[in-house]
Amino acid sequence: MTEPDIKKGLAGVVVDTTAISKVNPETNSLLYRGYPVQELAATQPFEAVAYLLWHGELPDAAQLAAFRATEREHRALADNVKTAIDLVPVEAHPMDEVRTAVSLIGASDPNAGGSVLDAGGSPEQNLERSIRLFAALPAIVAYGQRRRRGEQLIEPRDDLDYSANFLWMTFGEEPDPVVVDAFNRSMILYAEHSFNASTFTARVITSTLSDLYSAVVGAIGALKGPLHGGANEAVLHIFDKIGEASNVVPWLDDALAEKRKIMGFGHRVYKSGDSRVPTMKAALDTLVEHYDRPEVAELYDALESEFVARKGIYPNLDYPSGPAYNLIGFDTLTFTPLFVAARVTGWTAHVIEQAGANALIRPLSLYDGVDERHIEG
Ligand code: SDX
Repeated sequence: MTEPDIKKGLAGVVVDTTAISKVNPETNSLLYRGYPVQELAATQPFEAVAYLLWHGELPDAAQLAAFRATEREHRALADNVKTAIDLVPVEAHPMDEVRTAVSLIGASDPNAGGSVLDAGGSPEQNLERSIRLFAALPAIVAYGQRRRRGEQLIEPRDDLDYSANFLWMTFGEEPDPVVVDAFNRSMILYAEHSFNASTFTARVITSTLSDLYSAVVGAIGALKGPLHGGANEAVLHIFDKIGEASNVVPWLDDALAEKRKIMGFGHRVYKSGDSRVPTMKAALDTLVEHYDRPEVAELYDALESEFVARKGIYPNLDYPSGPAYNLIGFDTLTFTPLFVAARVTGWTAHVIEQAGANALIRPLSLYDGVDERHIEG
């Protein structure tokens, strides 16, 4: 028998179609339902992009107003979710808090339990669940940071749109429009990226006809890893270790000598640069100027130019987003939960698409263990 061609990590393997986004490494581009992500980030509120991912079209004024009203209805942190978060040890990683909160929201959904034969839910039910998670995650992430700082929960404000309200609930200050715009752009850039590890995890779970919440909880688990969503947090740990631009060369000498991965660089699909980085870097530059922190840009540029020169491996979205979130005032441990709040839109769009495909995902494996044998005696 000829040896099968094993594709470790499914690298380069096309396993299905999707109409949600197109990642094109040849043109270094990313389209959400046909729109270049750069255009969406420059012109749309995140709410409109969430609507686009779910419905396939940007909302008109009336549709956006109705969507915003629904999102506002589900912003407040539910008492049982706050209780569940408070049960998570404050020393635990915030991704464990987010995972626990989503799991409880799912367990509390009267239509998601019961017989496994109807756990999957209808597209309409799953769209409603998606909007509720989209609306609820900011309060979950904001409260997580505040409780780790020993601060009290801040209630949402109905006079603020999604991004401004997210910042209000986290910091309790009137958010500056410059910061709101940079944050809004980051959420749009993080929202969707075809069959990345966490999205594919959500699709595998959905392919068994399990429920949307189980798929999102699984995706949160996948995103936590530093090779995936955890990289934005890891970038700040690296910045903290290096300290300032003049330390980059010796630090990189040691890191590469120890064959360490430099978080925030490289990508499984993009090999000549991540299409989203220029837009996020521009947002970072705006924040560097707004907060008058030129040393952040100096360190960013020094590490990028040195690593690219040595390895020819380019930054991914996590590289500019980490320093940006740090400048805004988010704790480093809050960075990947922010990624969850954005990516829940892409994950749930894929859950709805996969549920419609009704095709169990179950690849093969090539056995390389001991030969067949039998119990003696
Ligand atoms: C995200 O898939 C998505 O779309 C993900 C994402 C999304 O929006 O969902 O874009 C978000 O997860 C971005 C990636 C965040 N992760 C990191 O920044 C972690 C650091 N990056 C690497 O671990 C790596 O680049 C991966 C995991 C992202 C991609 O790795 P690949 O495609 O599997 O490539 P590889 O690990 O096989 O690397 C090929 C070579 C290796 O050298 P050799 O062993 O062949 O000598 O390049 C080297 C690697 O060692 N390499 C790196 C490196 N990335 C690749 N060396 C040092 N530092 C790095 N960052």
